[in-house]
Amino acid sequence: MRSYSLIAPAKINLYLEIIGNAPGGYHELAMVLQSISLADRVHLRANGTQQFHCACNSNQVPQDKTNLAYRAAELMAKQFPQAFNRYGAVDINIEKQIPVAAGLAGGSSNAAAVLVGLNLIWQLGLTQPELQELAAQLGSDIPFCISGGTALATGRGEMLEPLPDLPPISVILAKYRSLEISTAWAYGTYRQKFGHTYVSEPEALLERRQRFHSGSMIAAIAHQDGQKIGQLLHNDLEKVALPAYPQVAQLRSAFENTDILGVMMSGSGPTVFALAESPEKAQQASITVKNTLNHPDLDFWVAQLIPCGIQIDH
Ligand code: C5P
Repeated sequence: MRSYSLIAPAKINLYLEIIGNAPGGYHELAMVLQSISLADRVHLRANGTQQFHCACNSNQVPQDKTNLAYRAAELMAKQFPQAFNRYGAVDINIEKQIPVAAGLAGGSSNAAAVLVGLNLIWQLGLTQPELQELAAQLGSDIPFCISGGTALATGRGEMLEPLPDLPPISVILAKYRSLEISTAWAYGTYRQKFGHTYVSEPEALLERRQRFHSGSMIAAIAHQDGQKIGQLLHNDLEKVALPAYPQVAQLRSAFENTDILGVMMSGSGPTVFALAESPEKAQQASITVKNTLNHPDLDFWVAQLIPCGIQIDH
């Protein structure tokens, strides 16, 4: 096939703990990542040239070489020059649904879709772990976006272990349209404030990873306990984002007064997500928060947790 359409889901962080420094200025993390049904569509079409093109229906997304999806295509061309010469470049067309710079890995998921799609168009036959190894060169969330579902992530976020699928839980996402938080700012500010608490010795790092593996969030997931999962949502980056962006803190508080399982900021924010027992309760919570805050700049989405990452759109 010379063209593929792929579904590229967003992710939320059910748990994000910052443990210490990782090589290259990154952070060593312990996370639980979860794919959700809010998704972009990424269309790839062989264009018969040696030049990739990237287009998107959102003007917030760069359509040049700085786009992560474009960089994913260039990485594939560099890694597999023979296939690139034989099959040529592709036009990348991104249909955006996932809000941009929102802590939902939208850009990472688009890049993951390009890796999966070019593997098919160029008939490379790479396995999922091989694609994920390449993905880690581009960004910490991209390996997860490929396989998706529910996963435990350590290292920079690229070391993944699948977790059991969660029971049917609904998720409400809320974001101020004009608000963006830079991921590099969030982690950099965290390091300035809490760097003195970082773990650095290899034994201590191992001990923290093991503690996470046997911790209560992983147990709650194993027991499919939605109530517990809601109570145990955690994100260290809230410690820097909420004081700097009081409107995010206010949004989070507004959800606390509704019938939900739990509420948290996703990734480096500023999207706030809440888990609810049913689509009806999710809808009701979003209406209540909308009416409470009555802010014209606030967007809401209701989605479901899903057990997969990049899918071919048949
Ligand atoms: O890997 P990615 O490009 O998505 O990361 C964006 C930024 O987030 C990095 O440049 C870094 O500042 C920060 N980051 C980090 N530790 C991680 C992941 C991201 O410090 N594990």
